[in-house]
Amino acid sequence: MARPQILLTRRWPAAVERRLAESYDATLNAEDRPMSPTEIGAALRTFDAVCPTVSDALPAEVFAGVPRGRMLGNYGVGVNHIDLDAARAAEVVVSNTPGCLTDCTADLALTLMLMLARRAGEGERELRAGRWTGWRPTHLIGTRIGGRVLGIVGMGRIGRATARRAEAGFGMKIVYYNRSLPPAEEMAGLDATRLDCIDAVLEAADIVSLHIPGGGSNRHVIDARRLSLIGPAGMLINTARGDVVDQAALIAALAEGRLGGAGLDVYDGEPSVPAALTLMENAVLLPHLGSATDRTREAMGMMVVDNLDAFFSGRDLPNRVA
Ligand code: DGY
Repeated sequence: MARPQILLTRRWPAAVERRLAESYDATLNAEDRPMSPTEIGAALRTFDAVCPTVSDALPAEVFAGVPRGRMLGNYGVGVNHIDLDAARAAEVVVSNTPGCLTDCTADLALTLMLMLARRAGEGERELRAGRWTGWRPTHLIGTRIGGRVLGIVGMGRIGRATARRAEAGFGMKIVYYNRSLPPAEEMAGLDATRLDCIDAVLEAADIVSLHIPGGGSNRHVIDARRLSLIGPAGMLINTARGDVVDQAALIAALAEGRLGGAGLDVYDGEPSVPAALTLMENAVLLPHLGSATDRTREAMGMMVVDNLDAFFSGRDLPNRVA
C-alpha cells in the first residue's frame, strides 16, 4: 500500500521528522514560514494529511472542495486558528496535542509574573543599554509575588499547573473562575477558591493569569471594563491567546495607569505587536514561547505522529477534536 502523503507547514524537531519519514512520505515546508489559507486549502486537496501550527490560519474557505477523509494533525493544543465546524462539515478529521505542553506553559506564566513583579525586563534593558549606574537602595524596586492573590481565569490543565506552582512555590493565594466545576481529583492538594464570575476574580486578585481558549465567545473577554477591575496596582498575565484580551483597551489602560502591568506571551494578530506596547516599561513581552522547550516540542510532534498513525490504521484518534 502506498505510504500516506503528509505536509508539515513548518519545520519540526529533527527526531520527529525522522520518525515521520519511517512511515510517511513527508513534505516539509523548507522555508519554515506560515502558509496562507489558499496554500493550505490546495495542500488538503493533494496530501492525505496536513500538519499545521498556530501560525497558520485555517478559516472556512480552506475546506471548500476538499475531498472527504483528510486529516489535520495540529502541532499544538489550541485550535482556534482552525474553523472546526467547517472541518467537520468537510469530514476532515482534526487532532491536537493536549497535556504535553502544560508544565512548560505554566512555567512561562510564572516567568512572566516574576519578570513583571521584579522589573526584570526593565533591568535587563537598562544594563544592556549601558545605563546601569550601580546598586542603590531605591533602584528598580519591584514587588514580591509571595502571599499575593493570584486570580486564574480558566482552571483547565494549564490553569491548575500555574496555580500549583504559585501556591506551592510562592505561597500565593489562589482564586479562580471556571465555567464548570473542575473534577475534585484534579484539584486535589490545591487550596483554591472558586468564585462565581470572572469579574469577582479580577476584583479579588493582585495578579490575574488567563488560561482560556481563544476565539468564539472568549474574544475580548478581558475588555476595558474588566481591565479596570484588575486596577492600577494589578497585573495581567496572558499565555493563552492574544484575542481573549482587547489589545487596544489594554494599551490604553497601561498607558493611563489604570492597569499596573502586563506580562504577555501572545498577541492579537501575532507576530505583529503594536509599537505602543513595545515602548511600555510596565509590559513584559515574549514571542509566544509557552511550549518552547526541547522536550516539549519533541513530545508535541510525537503526539501528532501518534494521531496520524491511528488515523491511517483506522483506529480511534487519541486526541481528536473534530
Ligand atoms: C499551543 O499549543 O496552542 C501553543 O500556543 C503553541 O505551542
